[in-house]
Amino acid sequence: MAEGNSLEVRVSQPHLFWGMSYPIQTIKRSSRIKCVSCGNEEIMKEKLEKIMKDALSQIETSEGLDKLNDIRVAFLGKKGELTSVLKSMKDVAPEDRPKVGQLVNEARKDIEAKLEAKKTAFAKALREEKMKAEVIDVTLPGKKPKLGHRHPNTIALQEVEKIFVGLGYEVVEGPEVEYDYYNFEALNIPANHPAKDEQDTFYINDKFLLRTQTSSVQVRVMEEGKLPIRMIAPGRVFRSDEVDATHSPSFHQIEGLVIDKNITFADLKGTLAEFAKELFGEGTKVKFRPHHFPFTEPSAEMDVTCFKCGGKGCRFCKGEGWIEILGCGMVHPHVLEMSHIDPEEYTGFAFGVGLERIALLKYEIDDMRLLYENDKRFLEQF
Ligand code: DAH
Repeated sequence: MAEGNSLEVRVSQPHLFWGMSYPIQTIKRSSRIKCVSCGNEEIMKEKLEKIMKDALSQIETSEGLDKLNDIRVAFLGKKGELTSVLKSMKDVAPEDRPKVGQLVNEARKDIEAKLEAKKTAFAKALREEKMKAEVIDVTLPGKKPKLGHRHPNTIALQEVEKIFVGLGYEVVEGPEVEYDYYNFEALNIPANHPAKDEQDTFYINDKFLLRTQTSSVQVRVMEEGKLPIRMIAPGRVFRSDEVDATHSPSFHQIEGLVIDKNITFADLKGTLAEFAKELFGEGTKVKFRPHHFPFTEPSAEMDVTCFKCGGKGCRFCKGEGWIEILGCGMVHPHVLEMSHIDPEEYTGFAFGVGLERIALLKYEIDDMRLLYENDKRFLEQF
């Protein structure tokens, strides 16, 4: 091979250089390092420059991030071209090794920098493309978030609660799965009492049932022994009724109870008349009809003047002018005794309102089933 500072060698066959198949086309002689295995004189710098040139041109023309990764593996990977140069270091004359090492490191750095630059360029192009595709028209009307709202039952309940809380009542809750004792026995409805048949229900076993009335909460509050009592107890009740326009096996009641010294039927009338006015309007009148409930004596049902016709009689009140809304009465002395309250010292009144009945009346809904069907077209009207 000729000597000199610059030399061109052309070979037709790939030249096997340190284990790599590599066609030498142009070799510029600047630093000469001998290949020990083949004895051929090669110029490392040129060799590495060739690898570099290949790598850089492949990076330049690559078409995506995946391709870039393939190039990284092909040149810098464990079996990559640069790495095999390092692996064949044992074949390089010992005095040349630091030089070769330095050249390989420089080449690696350059390739890495180029890969990184190309990667950034790809990311930038991708972002720009995305930005173009995702143009936001700020003049378009916004999407309104859908807000839920209260169920008509809840609206009615909150209105009733507001009235009684305003009168100084506490709102309490009792369990839906109840002892037979609280639901019947302690309310003066012993086993075999005919009133029990009227409220036939779902028994869990002999002792437990799904409560048929919120009146059970009266007993629980009285048993606590804190007097006086002024409370309402809203909640779900159950009865084995068939579903129709006015019945459901599960519905809601609001119970009321007042126990104090010197409570009379006048207090009951005044309180419930006030309640009716607040709920149905200032002009509402009330009427009490004698009735029977086992746990109150005397007992009554309360009617209110029809808020639709003002009492003249219309389709809504079926020509009556009056609408029945609740049951009430003075707490039976025996009921007080069973809950350890002395009937000689304390008296009280109680009442029970059907929540659905109030919602149906207030919103002029003629079928109770609508309240449970969860049809949004219906519910959105309240
Ligand atoms: N619990 C009765 C029922 O479900 C309603 C009732 C009537 C409750 C009179 C009372 C009351 O507190 O005094 O039919």
